[in-house]
Amino acid sequence: MGRLDGKVIWITGAASGLGRESALRCAAEGARLVVTDLAAPDTVAAEIADAGGGVLALAQDVTVEGRWDEVADEAEEAFGGFDVLVNNAGLGENRPLAETTLTQWRRVQSVNLDSVFLGTRLAFRRMRPGGSVINISSILGLVGNAGTAAYCASKGGVRLLSKSAAVEAAQAGLTIRVNSIHPGYIETPMVVNAVNKRPEPDQVMAYIASRHPVGHLGEPADIAHAVVYLASDESRFVTGAEMVVDGGYTAW
Ligand SMILES: NC(=O)c1ccc[n+]([C@@H]2O[C@H](COP(=O)([O-])OP(=O)(O)OC[C@H]3O[C@@H](n4cnc5c(N)ncnc54)[C@H](O)[C@@H]3O)[C@@H](O)[C@H]2O)c1
Repeated sequence: MGRLDGKVIWITGAASGLGRESALRCAAEGARLVVTDLAAPDTVAAEIADAGGGVLALAQDVTVEGRWDEVADEAEEAFGGFDVLVNNAGLGENRPLAETTLTQWRRVQSVNLDSVFLGTRLAFRRMRPGGSVINISSILGLVGNAGTAAYCASKGGVRLLSKSAAVEAAQAGLTIRVNSIHPGYIETPMVVNAVNKRPEPDQVMAYIASRHPVGHLGEPADIAHAVVYLASDESRFVTGAEMVVDGGYTAW
């Protein structure tokens, strides 16, 4: 018996990092997966299928409004609908505020926040009863940081969008829960590539590690475990919560 037997879980940005690991863990717990990314995440899908799991891999740019319903249609055709949506796709952004153009600002909001609105709205309209929306925010949706104002604004928006949606769903009698996850720095391509662009990457990585009381970055599995919990019925009384998984980053 898996913890997610019978559930259909749709994960955006599933080709890499946290989305990929979450997809693999959810499949290992018995869920069937709809995995999407800018290009269909066929490698992740093959890993799931090779292990005997049910999976559908599709291309989905989360900023394209009309694509959400198309993917939901395909999920319905393949699996009869979906029970969990993990709004994971996102862009990192490091740019001094004074050098940020309005176009750059809007791009970050579009990928990181507008997409979460589109996905959460779709869940209200089409998710099966008893479902769970899991929105991947960040510690940088809880505390500020120099050089990442657009990113922080988008992730702070995800936090309060999630809480508002949780209250509205409950009051409307929709049996859908909505929660956000706030990872500390996790070793994924998003972080590693950004650090490698800096003049002294080793020192930057050591500094980032030192910001976490535990003294190191997290691993994708640390977030995937939280996704599994929020996707499962073990979290049936959890809605509107901000689940901080950050090695203590925001505790001091
Ligand atoms: N890694 C961290 O330290 C960290 C910390 C806090 C929050 N997060 C958040 O976790 C999520 C996953 O990040 P990650 O670290 O795994 O990054 P990643 O870069 O490894 O993966 C992100 C994925 O999102 C996809 N993506 C980007 N734009 C897209 C779009 N418009 N439509 C569809 N897919 C798109 C990318 O192709 C990529 O596969 C992001 O929302 C990120 O902001 C990451």
